[in-house]
Amino acid sequence: MNSIVGRLAIYAVFFLVPVLGKPVEKSEWIELSYPFNNETIYWPTAVSFKHTLVFENYTSGGFYYASYDISASEHGGTHIDAPRHFAAGKWTADQIPLHHLIGPAIKIDLSSKADQNADYEMTPSDLQEWEKKHGKIPDNVILLAFFGWGKHWPNKTMYLGTDLKNTSLLHFPGIHPNASSWLVKNRKVKMVGIDTPSIDFGQSKMFKTHQILYAENIPGLENVAHMDKLPTKGFTVYAAPMFISGGSGGPCRIFARLEDRATSADVRFQVEVEVLAIMICLLFGFLSL
Ligand SMILES: *[C@@H]1O[C@H](CO)[C@@H](O)[C@H](O)[C@H]1NC(C)=O
Ligand SMILES: *[C@@H]1O[C@H](CO)[C@@H](O)[C@H](O)[C@H]1NC(C)=O
Ligand SMILES: *[C@@H]1O[C@H](CO)[C@@H](O)[C@H](O)[C@H]1NC(C)=O
Ligand SMILES: *[C@@H]1O[C@H](CO)[C@@H](O)[C@H](O)[C@H]1NC(C)=O
Ligand SMILES: *[C@@H]1O[C@H](CO)[C@@H](O)[C@H](O)[C@H]1NC(C)=O
Ligand SMILES: [Zn+2]
Repeated sequence: MNSIVGRLAIYAVFFLVPVLGKPVEKSEWIELSYPFNNETIYWPTAVSFKHTLVFENYTSGGFYYASYDISASEHGGTHIDAPRHFAAGKWTADQIPLHHLIGPAIKIDLSSKADQNADYEMTPSDLQEWEKKHGKIPDNVILLAFFGWGKHWPNKTMYLGTDLKNTSLLHFPGIHPNASSWLVKNRKVKMVGIDTPSIDFGQSKMFKTHQILYAENIPGLENVAHMDKLPTKGFTVYAAPMFISGGSGGPCRIFARLEDRATSADVRFQVEVEVLAIMICLLFGFLSL
Protein backbone atom coordinates (compact mmCIF):
# COMPACT_ATOMS: atom_id res chain seq x y z
CA MET A 1 0.00 0.00 0.00
CA ASN A 2 2.73 2.42 1.08
CA SER A 3 4.76 1.67 -2.02
CA ILE A 4 1.72 2.41 -4.20
CA VAL A 5 1.18 5.74 -2.42
CA GLY A 6 4.86 6.48 -2.79
CA ARG A 7 4.87 5.70 -6.47
CA LEU A 8 1.71 7.77 -7.02
CA ALA A 9 3.36 10.64 -5.17
CA ILE A 10 6.44 10.42 -7.36
CA TYR A 11 4.28 10.38 -10.51
CA ALA A 12 2.34 13.39 -9.16
CA VAL A 13 5.58 15.26 -8.58
CA PHE A 14 6.70 14.54 -12.14
CA PHE A 15 3.54 16.35 -13.26
CA LEU A 16 3.60 19.07 -10.62
CA VAL A 17 7.12 20.30 -11.18
CA PRO A 18 6.75 21.09 -14.89
CA VAL A 19 3.19 22.44 -14.54
CA LEU A 20 3.35 24.58 -11.39
CA GLY A 21 7.06 25.33 -11.60
CA LYS A 22 6.87 26.43 -15.23
CA PRO A 23 8.01 30.05 -15.63
CA VAL A 24 5.15 32.40 -16.51
CA GLU A 25 4.89 33.52 -20.14
CA LYS A 26 7.75 35.97 -20.46
CA SER A 27 6.65 38.08 -23.39
CA GLU A 28 3.51 39.42 -24.91
CA TRP A 29 3.09 40.83 -28.40
CA ILE A 30 0.81 43.84 -28.92
CA GLU A 31 -0.65 44.90 -32.27
CA LEU A 32 -0.25 48.66 -32.75
CA SER A 33 -1.69 48.93 -36.30
CA TYR A 34 -5.17 49.31 -37.76
CA PRO A 35 -6.06 47.04 -40.66
CA PHE A 36 -6.26 48.57 -44.14
CA ASN A 37 -9.83 48.35 -45.41
CA ASN A 38 -12.66 50.59 -46.62
CA GLU A 39 -12.98 52.15 -43.11
CA THR A 40 -9.33 53.22 -42.83
CA ILE A 41 -9.09 56.94 -42.05
CA TYR A 42 -7.07 59.18 -44.40
CA TRP A 43 -6.39 62.92 -44.37
CA PRO A 44 -9.54 64.57 -45.81
CA THR A 45 -7.75 65.57 -49.02
CA ALA A 46 -5.87 62.25 -49.53
CA VAL A 47 -6.71 59.18 -51.61
CA SER A 48 -8.16 56.38 -49.45
CA PHE A 49 -7.20 52.72 -49.48
CA LYS A 50 -8.57 50.68 -52.38
CA HIS A 51 -8.46 46.89 -52.49
CA THR A 52 -9.97 45.74 -55.77
CA LEU A 53 -10.62 42.21 -56.86
CA VAL A 54 -8.58 40.74 -59.69
CA PHE A 55 -9.69 37.14 -59.25
CA GLU A 56 -11.06 34.92 -56.46
CA ASN A 57 -12.36 31.50 -57.34
CA TYR A 58 -11.37 28.04 -58.52
CA THR A 59 -9.60 28.26 -61.87
CA SER A 60 -10.31 26.15 -64.93
CA GLY A 61 -7.20 24.19 -63.86
CA GLY A 62 -9.06 23.14 -60.71
CA PHE A 63 -6.89 25.03 -58.19
CA TYR A 64 -7.97 27.99 -56.04
CA TYR A 65 -6.55 31.44 -56.81
CA ALA A 66 -7.06 34.88 -55.18
CA SER A 67 -5.50 38.24 -56.10
CA TYR A 68 -6.28 41.92 -55.54
CA ASP A 69 -4.88 45.30 -56.59
CA ILE A 70 -4.10 47.89 -53.89
CA SER A 71 -3.71 51.67 -53.99
CA ALA A 72 -3.69 54.52 -51.47
CA SER A 73 -1.99 57.72 -50.34
CA GLU A 74 1.28 57.18 -48.43
CA HIS A 75 -0.21 59.04 -45.45
CA GLY A 76 -3.25 57.34 -44.00
CA GLY A 77 -4.15 54.55 -41.64
CA THR A 78 -1.26 53.36 -39.47
CA HIS A 79 1.76 54.78 -41.27
CA ILE A 80 5.23 56.24 -41.02
CA ASP A 81 6.22 59.78 -41.96
CA ALA A 82 9.73 59.67 -43.36
CA PRO A 83 11.68 62.82 -42.37
CA ARG A 84 11.58 63.83 -46.08
CA HIS A 85 7.82 64.49 -45.65
CA PHE A 86 8.64 67.95 -44.17
CA ALA A 87 12.43 68.28 -44.47
CA ALA A 88 14.30 68.64 -47.77
CA GLY A 89 17.33 66.36 -48.05
CA LYS A 90 16.42 64.21 -45.04
CA TRP A 91 15.67 60.47 -45.15
CA THR A 92 13.06 59.09 -47.53
CA ALA A 93 11.10 55.99 -46.47
CA ASP A 94 13.70 53.61 -47.92
CA GLN A 95 16.63 55.52 -46.37
CA ILE A 96 15.57 55.17 -42.72
CA PRO A 97 18.13 52.76 -41.22
CA LEU A 98 16.58 49.54 -39.85
CA HIS A 99 17.90 50.17 -36.33
CA HIS A 100 15.86 53.41 -36.27
CA LEU A 101 12.67 51.41 -36.75
CA ILE A 102 13.10 49.16 -33.71
CA GLY A 103 13.87 49.94 -30.09
CA PRO A 104 12.92 50.41 -26.46
CA ALA A 105 9.93 52.73 -26.11
CA ILE A 106 8.08 54.84 -23.56
CA LYS A 107 4.48 56.05 -23.40
CA ILE A 108 3.45 59.54 -22.26
CA ASP A 109 -0.19 59.34 -21.13
CA LEU A 110 -2.09 62.57 -21.88
CA SER A 111 -5.49 60.93 -22.30
CA SER A 112 -7.14 62.76 -19.39
CA LYS A 113 -6.09 66.14 -20.86
CA ALA A 114 -7.30 65.15 -24.35
CA ASP A 115 -10.64 64.00 -22.91
CA GLN A 116 -11.26 67.59 -21.82
CA ASN A 117 -9.79 69.29 -24.89
CA ALA A 118 -9.72 67.81 -28.41
CA ASP A 119 -7.17 70.51 -29.37
CA TYR A 120 -4.74 69.56 -26.57
CA GLU A 121 -1.02 69.75 -27.38
CA MET A 122 1.70 67.98 -25.38
CA THR A 123 3.96 70.61 -23.75
CA PRO A 124 7.53 70.54 -22.42
CA SER A 125 6.12 70.48 -18.87
CA ASP A 126 4.18 67.27 -19.72
CA LEU A 127 7.54 65.70 -20.60
CA GLN A 128 9.19 67.06 -17.46
CA GLU A 129 6.33 65.77 -15.29
CA TRP A 130 6.72 62.32 -16.88
CA GLU A 131 10.45 62.41 -16.04
CA LYS A 132 9.74 63.31 -12.39
CA LYS A 133 7.65 60.14 -12.05
CA HIS A 134 9.49 57.71 -14.34
CA GLY A 135 13.06 58.99 -14.69
CA LYS A 136 14.88 60.74 -17.51
CA ILE A 137 13.73 59.91 -21.05
CA PRO A 138 16.46 57.44 -22.13
CA ASP A 139 18.66 58.07 -25.17
CA ASN A 140 17.63 56.43 -28.47
CA VAL A 141 14.14 55.68 -27.20
CA ILE A 142 10.94 55.64 -29.28
CA LEU A 143 8.54 58.12 -27.64
CA LEU A 144 4.81 57.41 -27.93
CA ALA A 145 2.33 60.20 -27.16
CA PHE A 146 -0.94 58.63 -25.98
CA PHE A 147 -4.15 60.68 -26.08
CA GLY A 148 -6.68 57.83 -25.85
CA TRP A 149 -7.78 58.81 -29.38
CA GLY A 150 -8.02 55.22 -30.59
CA LYS A 151 -11.40 54.90 -28.89
CA HIS A 152 -12.83 57.09 -31.69
CA TRP A 153 -11.51 54.91 -34.56
CA PRO A 154 -12.98 54.43 -37.22
CA ASN A 155 -15.55 57.21 -36.71
CA LYS A 156 -14.20 60.12 -38.78
CA THR A 157 -16.42 62.73 -37.11
CA MET A 158 -14.95 61.82 -33.73
CA TYR A 159 -11.39 60.92 -34.79
CA LEU A 160 -10.69 63.80 -37.22
CA GLY A 161 -13.25 66.26 -35.88
CA THR A 162 -15.10 66.22 -39.22
CA ASP A 163 -16.14 63.87 -42.00
CA LEU A 164 -15.94 66.77 -44.51
CA LYS A 165 -12.99 67.62 -46.78
CA ASN A 166 -12.53 71.05 -45.11
CA THR A 167 -9.23 70.82 -43.19
CA SER A 168 -10.09 73.92 -41.12
CA LEU A 169 -12.57 71.70 -39.30
CA LEU A 170 -9.95 69.18 -38.08
CA HIS A 171 -9.81 68.77 -34.28
CA PHE A 172 -7.56 66.22 -32.58
CA PRO A 173 -4.62 66.42 -30.12
CA GLY A 174 -0.94 66.61 -31.07
CA ILE A 175 2.57 67.53 -29.95
CA HIS A 176 3.22 71.25 -29.32
CA PRO A 177 6.24 72.62 -31.27
CA ASN A 178 7.72 73.69 -27.91
CA ALA A 179 7.75 70.05 -26.79
CA SER A 180 9.40 69.01 -30.08
CA SER A 181 12.06 71.73 -29.69
CA TRP A 182 12.65 70.71 -26.08
CA LEU A 183 13.13 67.07 -27.13
CA VAL A 184 15.49 67.97 -29.97
CA LYS A 185 17.59 70.28 -27.74
CA ASN A 186 17.63 68.28 -24.50
CA ARG A 187 16.99 64.60 -25.26
CA LYS A 188 17.88 62.06 -27.93
CA VAL A 189 14.72 60.24 -29.11
CA LYS A 190 15.01 58.26 -32.33
CA MET A 191 11.34 58.20 -33.36
CA VAL A 192 8.01 59.54 -32.11
CA GLY A 193 4.58 57.96 -32.40
CA ILE A 194 1.05 59.23 -31.80
CA ASP A 195 -2.47 57.75 -31.61
CA THR A 196 -3.99 60.61 -33.65
CA PRO A 197 -3.90 61.39 -37.42
CA SER A 198 -0.89 63.74 -37.17
CA ILE A 199 1.96 64.63 -34.78
CA ASP A 200 0.79 68.28 -35.05
CA PHE A 201 -2.71 68.92 -33.66
CA GLY A 202 -5.71 69.23 -35.98
CA GLN A 203 -5.78 73.03 -35.96
CA SER A 204 -2.11 73.36 -36.98
CA LYS A 205 -1.45 75.42 -40.10
CA MET A 206 2.38 75.39 -40.15
CA PHE A 207 3.01 71.78 -39.01
CA LYS A 208 5.92 73.03 -36.88
CA THR A 209 6.35 69.76 -34.98
CA HIS A 210 6.73 67.95 -38.32
CA GLN A 211 9.31 70.56 -39.38
CA ILE A 212 11.30 70.46 -36.12
CA LEU A 213 11.51 66.67 -35.69
CA TYR A 214 11.96 65.71 -39.34
CA ALA A 215 14.79 68.28 -39.75
CA GLU A 216 16.65 66.10 -37.18
CA ASN A 217 15.86 62.84 -39.06
CA ILE A 218 13.41 61.75 -36.35
CA PRO A 219 10.60 59.86 -38.18
CA GLY A 220 6.96 59.98 -36.99
CA LEU A 221 4.42 57.18 -36.60
CA GLU A 222 0.79 58.29 -36.97
CA ASN A 223 -2.53 56.59 -36.25
CA VAL A 224 -0.73 54.16 -33.93
CA ALA A 225 -3.41 51.77 -32.63
CA HIS A 226 -4.17 50.16 -29.24
CA MET A 227 -1.70 52.24 -27.21
CA ASP A 228 -4.03 51.73 -24.23
CA LYS A 229 -2.65 48.17 -24.01
CA LEU A 230 0.92 49.42 -23.47
CA PRO A 231 2.59 50.07 -20.12
CA THR A 232 4.49 53.32 -19.44
CA LYS A 233 7.84 51.69 -20.19
CA GLY A 234 9.43 48.26 -20.47
CA PHE A 235 8.51 47.43 -24.05
CA THR A 236 10.11 47.36 -27.49
CA VAL A 237 8.44 48.85 -30.56
CA TYR A 238 8.88 47.39 -34.05
CA ALA A 239 7.82 49.50 -37.04
CA ALA A 240 7.94 47.82 -40.45
CA PRO A 241 7.01 50.36 -43.15
CA MET A 242 6.50 49.59 -46.81
CA PHE A 243 9.90 49.89 -48.55
CA ILE A 244 9.02 52.68 -51.03
CA SER A 245 11.95 54.08 -53.04
CA GLY A 246 11.97 57.84 -52.56
CA GLY A 247 8.77 57.65 -50.47
CA SER A 248 7.77 60.44 -48.07
CA GLY A 249 6.24 57.76 -45.85
CA GLY A 250 4.01 54.75 -46.21
CA PRO A 251 1.76 52.13 -44.65
CA CYS A 252 3.43 50.58 -41.62
CA ARG A 253 2.90 47.47 -39.50
CA ILE A 254 3.72 48.47 -35.93
CA PHE A 255 3.81 46.14 -32.94
CA ALA A 256 5.33 45.93 -29.48
CA ARG A 257 6.80 43.26 -27.27
CA LEU A 258 6.44 43.63 -23.52
CA GLU A 259 9.54 42.87 -21.48
CA ASP A 260 9.71 40.06 -18.93
CA ARG A 261 6.93 40.90 -16.53
CA ALA A 262 7.68 38.06 -14.07
CA THR A 263 8.13 39.88 -10.77
CA SER A 264 10.54 38.64 -8.14
CA ALA A 265 7.44 37.48 -6.21
CA ASP A 266 6.46 35.24 -9.16
CA VAL A 267 9.96 33.79 -9.26
CA ARG A 268 9.96 33.18 -5.48
CA PHE A 269 6.59 31.42 -5.76
CA GLN A 270 7.95 29.12 -8.49
CA VAL A 271 11.00 28.22 -6.37
CA GLU A 272 8.78 27.55 -3.33
CA VAL A 273 6.52 25.25 -5.37
CA GLU A 274 9.49 23.31 -6.67
CA VAL A 275 11.07 22.91 -3.20
CA LEU A 276 7.73 21.75 -1.78
CA ALA A 277 7.34 19.24 -4.60
CA ILE A 278 10.80 17.79 -3.97
CA MET A 279 10.11 17.54 -0.21
CA ILE A 280 6.82 15.67 -0.83
CA CYS A 281 8.67 13.39 -3.23
CA LEU A 282 11.39 12.60 -0.65
CA LEU A 283 8.86 12.13 2.18
CA PHE A 284 6.70 9.68 0.26
CA GLY A 285 9.79 8.02 -1.12
CA PHE A 286 10.96 7.25 2.47
CA LEU A 287 7.48 6.17 3.61
CA SER A 288 7.20 3.77 0.71
CA LEU A 289 10.52 2.03 1.49
C1 LIG B 1 -16.54 47.59 -46.85
O1 LIG B 1 -16.02 46.27 -46.77
C2 LIG B 1 -16.92 45.35 -46.22
C3 LIG B 1 -16.17 44.02 -46.02
O2 LIG B 1 -15.46 43.66 -47.16
C4 LIG B 1 -18.14 45.23 -47.12
O3 LIG B 1 -19.05 44.32 -46.56
C5 LIG B 1 -18.77 46.61 -47.26
O4 LIG B 1 -19.83 46.54 -48.17
C6 LIG B 1 -17.76 47.64 -47.73
N1 LIG B 1 -18.36 48.96 -47.69
C7 LIG B 1 -18.21 49.84 -48.67
C8 LIG B 1 -18.86 51.19 -48.48
O5 LIG B 1 -17.57 49.60 -49.68
C1 LIG C 1 -16.66 30.51 -59.42
O1 LIG C 1 -16.49 29.39 -60.22
C2 LIG C 1 -17.67 28.58 -60.32
C3 LIG C 1 -17.30 27.37 -61.16
O2 LIG C 1 -16.08 26.84 -60.78
C4 LIG C 1 -18.80 29.36 -60.95
O3 LIG C 1 -19.96 28.59 -60.93
C5 LIG C 1 -19.01 30.63 -60.17
O4 LIG C 1 -19.96 31.43 -60.83
C6 LIG C 1 -17.72 31.40 -60.02
N1 LIG C 1 -17.96 32.55 -59.18
C7 LIG C 1 -17.60 33.80 -59.51
C8 LIG C 1 -17.90 34.87 -58.50
O5 LIG C 1 -17.06 34.05 -60.56
C1 LIG D 1 -19.80 58.95 -35.31
O1 LIG D 1 -19.87 59.87 -34.27
C2 LIG D 1 -20.88 60.84 -34.46
C3 LIG D 1 -20.74 61.91 -33.40
O2 LIG D 1 -20.65 61.32 -32.12
C4 LIG D 1 -22.25 60.16 -34.43
O3 LIG D 1 -23.27 61.10 -34.63
C5 LIG D 1 -22.28 59.10 -35.53
O4 LIG D 1 -23.47 58.37 -35.46
C6 LIG D 1 -21.09 58.17 -35.42
N1 LIG D 1 -21.04 57.32 -36.61
C7 LIG D 1 -21.02 56.01 -36.55
C8 LIG D 1 -20.96 55.29 -37.84
O5 LIG D 1 -21.01 55.41 -35.49
C1 LIG E 1 -14.09 75.52 -43.94
O1 LIG E 1 -14.40 75.71 -42.57
C2 LIG E 1 -14.11 77.00 -42.09
C3 LIG E 1 -14.29 77.02 -40.60
O2 LIG E 1 -15.60 76.66 -40.27
C4 LIG E 1 -14.96 78.03 -42.83
O3 LIG E 1 -14.63 79.34 -42.39
C5 LIG E 1 -14.70 77.90 -44.33
O4 LIG E 1 -15.57 78.75 -45.03
C6 LIG E 1 -14.89 76.49 -44.79
N1 LIG E 1 -14.46 76.35 -46.18
C7 LIG E 1 -15.21 75.82 -47.10
C8 LIG E 1 -14.62 75.75 -48.47
O5 LIG E 1 -16.31 75.35 -46.86
C1 LIG F 1 6.07 78.05 -26.26
O1 LIG F 1 7.30 78.77 -26.16
C2 LIG F 1 7.13 80.18 -26.31
C3 LIG F 1 8.53 80.80 -26.32
O2 LIG F 1 9.26 80.37 -25.20
C4 LIG F 1 6.25 80.70 -25.18
O3 LIG F 1 6.04 82.07 -25.36
C5 LIG F 1 4.90 79.97 -25.21
O4 LIG F 1 4.12 80.34 -24.10
C6 LIG F 1 5.13 78.46 -25.16
N1 LIG F 1 3.84 77.77 -25.29
C7 LIG F 1 3.59 76.61 -24.67
C8 LIG F 1 2.22 76.03 -24.87
O5 LIG F 1 4.42 76.00 -24.01
ZN1 LIG G 1 1.91 61.17 -42.34
